[in-house]
Amino acid sequence: MSALEQAPFLDLTRWSRALTAAEYALVERVDGPVLDIGCGPGRFVEALLARGVLALGIDGAPAAIERARSRGLHVMTRSIYDRIPREGDWATALLIDGNIGIGGDPERLLARTRAVLRPGGRVLVEVEPEGAARRDGLVRLEIATDMIGWFPWSWVGVDDIAPVGRAAGLVVDGVETCDGRWFIWLRRPAGATAPTRTHASRR
Ligand SMILES: C[S@@+](CC[C@H](N)C(=O)[O-])C[C@H]1O[C@@H](n2cnc3c(N)ncnc32)[C@H](O)[C@@H]1O
Repeated sequence: MSALEQAPFLDLTRWSRALTAAEYALVERVDGPVLDIGCGPGRFVEALLARGVLALGIDGAPAAIERARSRGLHVMTRSIYDRIPREGDWATALLIDGNIGIGGDPERLLARTRAVLRPGGRVLVEVEPEGAARRDGLVRLEIATDMIGWFPWSWVGVDDIAPVGRAAGLVVDGVETCDGRWFIWLRRPAGATAPTRTHASRR
């Protein structure tokens, strides 16, 4: 079997369910305004708006955004590498459900995320558990996303994320686990200048 045939499926239906209690506990502690990067059908945006927190979801897949919009959520069909409203003023960004893998270049993704955060802002990144090695590869997205085919993706473990964050100008601000999942908080230091290498202009 070829490497492409073995590429794991990223099936959006898996993320169509309501938030778990642990996921609610996570979003209860985030500061607004919140940018959910790769929001899918928008379940985190929905929970944040229900809490009265200003939140915007962005996703490159029009079908996912249509599903979110049909529920009245504040979402946009937009790649993280496109221009985003409130650039440099988001208090929190979310890269949950493995979204650190978007584009298969975590260094570039975190550098771009840093640019949309305000100084002192934080990004919550879901990472692979302890002992998991960094992998760069391909995933297949399901038809419902309109993104049919193979896309570059990465898997970054909790042991490897700190240097990736540092290269993007972000510092580790906390690690937590819930329901067997691992999350790391990375902060954009207040007042620090951007790292010289930036990927934000590439698409
Ligand atoms: C693992 S799913 C996210 C699931 C989502 N957190 C949820 O709760 O439904 C990854 C998402 O990233 C989106 N995506 C891929 N590349 C993107 C990009 N460059 N910018 C924004 N979103 C992207 C995909 O369309 C997909 O919906």
